[in-house]
Amino acid sequence: MMSKQTKNIVLGISAGIAAYRMYDLVGELKRLGNNVTVILTKDARNFVSELPLKVLSSNPVYCEMFSAELQSKPIHIELADSTDLILISPATADIIAKMATGICDELITNVLLASRCPVYIAPAMNTNMWEHFTTQKNIETLVTKLGYKIIPPEEGDLACGYTGMGHIASNEKIIKTILYGEFDTKPLYGKKVIVTAGGTREAIDPVRFIGNRSSGKMGIALADAAYNMGAEVVLVSTVPCEKKYQVIEVESAQEMQEVIESEFDKADALIMAAAVSDFRPIIASKQKIKKKNEDINLELTRNPDILEILGRTKRDKQIIIGFSAESENIEKNAKEKLEKKKIDMIIANDITVPETGFESDENAVIILTRDGKKEILQRQPKTQIARYITTRLSEIFDSIKEVKKT
Ligand SMILES: Cc1cc2nc3c(=O)[nH]c(=O)nc-3n(C[C@H](O)[C@H](O)[C@H](O)COP(=O)(O)O)c2cc1C
Repeated sequence: MMSKQTKNIVLGISAGIAAYRMYDLVGELKRLGNNVTVILTKDARNFVSELPLKVLSSNPVYCEMFSAELQSKPIHIELADSTDLILISPATADIIAKMATGICDELITNVLLASRCPVYIAPAMNTNMWEHFTTQKNIETLVTKLGYKIIPPEEGDLACGYTGMGHIASNEKIIKTILYGEFDTKPLYGKKVIVTAGGTREAIDPVRFIGNRSSGKMGIALADAAYNMGAEVVLVSTVPCEKKYQVIEVESAQEMQEVIESEFDKADALIMAAAVSDFRPIIASKQKIKKKNEDINLELTRNPDILEILGRTKRDKQIIIGFSAESENIEKNAKEKLEKKKIDMIIANDITVPETGFESDENAVIILTRDGKKEILQRQPKTQIARYITTRLSEIFDSIKEVKKT
């Protein structure tokens, strides 16, 4: 592992059993060329000793706010101003609660409030403490309101005797996350994302329908990606599937519209990957239509344009992403759709290209956004494209937050 550039890192160690692992972490961060300054909470001194941390970091180890030595700046401002990155590891339920509410009764919590650098948190605690409503609410606040990045705990055998969620992430994962951005820090935590998948079926009679060739693979990949990035996901799908998140099965465009409209008010984003039929038979026969010798005429009516309806009524901070399956003038048609439907991003693909698009495991797309940006993603697995799109979604959320801050 090579460090791209060395960093001044403040490592805040709070009073969890995983604190002993920080000896190795400090050594490894130092070996990678970083300048590490350790701050202990008062209770953390029950779990680790200052001397080895001093030796391993080649720096003083701090704990107290009030020292006898006279300094030009108070120590919490000095440390806050000189650091590039703060890592709280292990982060106890207690320190997480303090960070979420701005309590400053420790040196490290003062440094956190006084600094403007990126903050990473590696929580570790008993499963019940982690899953407790207040801890989860506090984590949500740290992620959504303060932009802190969580290095999620993992399932495992805990020192308290429990087996479950709460084990601190490995030192390797922590390093890869804070120095190289390799791991997911759940950037969609606290966001509710609705994803649609599959092709709608518009009944002609109890047996026949008007359908399309959408397999649902792109939508399901998007729902998985959003879930893995920490979002609360509702997948509205015409394709049955079992997931750890909520799946609502629908058949027709009208059913899909009803479900989306009932969920949309509480949602932060909608990704419309489903192929929604533009038309449906005016009358769906209750009985199977009998074969006759003459032709029959099927009268069709327009289905509601879900994207257009929601694009018109959405709140400013709600993000809508649409798909545009085109067979000609791909970019031009997609751009028109983006503007007409007042959505935030459109993913266009050329359905005439073999091996991509409908039913395939791969896709090649053009991404257009409202700020006029265009990105081309060459042929690659739909899972990879999904991950790219959900990352872009998290960036849009970040930019909304930044606009609000300034
Ligand atoms: C043996 C022992 C292990 C503990 N391990 C944890 C832990 O892993 N995570 C946690 O949130 N609290 C743990 N606690 C509770 C914290 O130490 C306690 O809430 C403490 O006041 C937190 O202080 P701090 O957040 O200021 O460091 C543990 C307590 C004991 C006695």
